[in-house]
Amino acid sequence: MRDRAVPEPGHIVILTGAGVSAESGLGTFRDPGGLWSRHDWRDLVTPEGFARDPGAVLAFYDWRRERARAARPNPAHHALARIARDWPGTVTLVTQNVDDLHERAGQPEVIHMHGSHMAARCAACGHRWPAPAVMAPADPCPACAAAAARPDVVWFGETPQHMERIAAALRAADLFVSIGTSGAVYPAAGFAAAARAAGARTVELNLEPSENARIFDETHHGRASEIVPAWVAGILAAP
Ligand code: APR
Repeated sequence: MRDRAVPEPGHIVILTGAGVSAESGLGTFRDPGGLWSRHDWRDLVTPEGFARDPGAVLAFYDWRRERARAARPNPAHHALARIARDWPGTVTLVTQNVDDLHERAGQPEVIHMHGSHMAARCAACGHRWPAPAVMAPADPCPACAAAAARPDVVWFGETPQHMERIAAALRAADLFVSIGTSGAVYPAAGFAAAARAAGARTVELNLEPSENARIFDETHHGRASEIVPAWVAGILAAP
């Protein structure tokens, strides 16, 4: 199967990262001027940082949520919704992003492996509810009333969500496509190798070569808003 650029309509697994939302104005983490060049991730995206100063962490996510709400899906998001709609086989989209731009572009199903900052979660009972614009440490959980509200996101040192489903999709993939991610963070950075080991063809679409670029069968570098629609059009037009 790997020698065919387009699988018979097989199973396409797509992984996206911050680069797919960059042109919607949400920036990325590790690029020059990225979030981690302006904020210390240890304070803001770790359980330890939350324990030390929950107010600062909640304010950080209020700010990101507000930016995401003001942002709009870009042509890359729309192209990925299109391939999910028009591809005759299965398309599984896994994202590391916590924004909802894929859904707002009409993506039928999105697996948020790092959670979503559009939702709140109770650290005591696990209950989830739509995140308000502003969260405060004293916010009571609507289910158990504990003052343990946090964003429903996965922090460093925590286990990503939906890993069993993702592992099954990687085993079944005929084509694995990585879009807008640096390949710096595991387990997502290991997905291409896992899909490849299961016989899938692997493709990277990114502004520049990622840390794993060498393991991909095919790479296309440029802005997601340009290279993703072109790649999708090529796949859907292929005989
Ligand atoms: N089009 C395509 N790719 C882009 C664009 C663009 N317009 N702009 C930036 N990129 C690429 C960069 O070249 C980089 O390789 O997107 C990648 C973004 O990398 P990171 O900032 O490391 O983001 P990501 O890979 O999603 O981070 C993984 O790390 O901080 C944690 O939990 C967070 O989910 C995140 C995870």
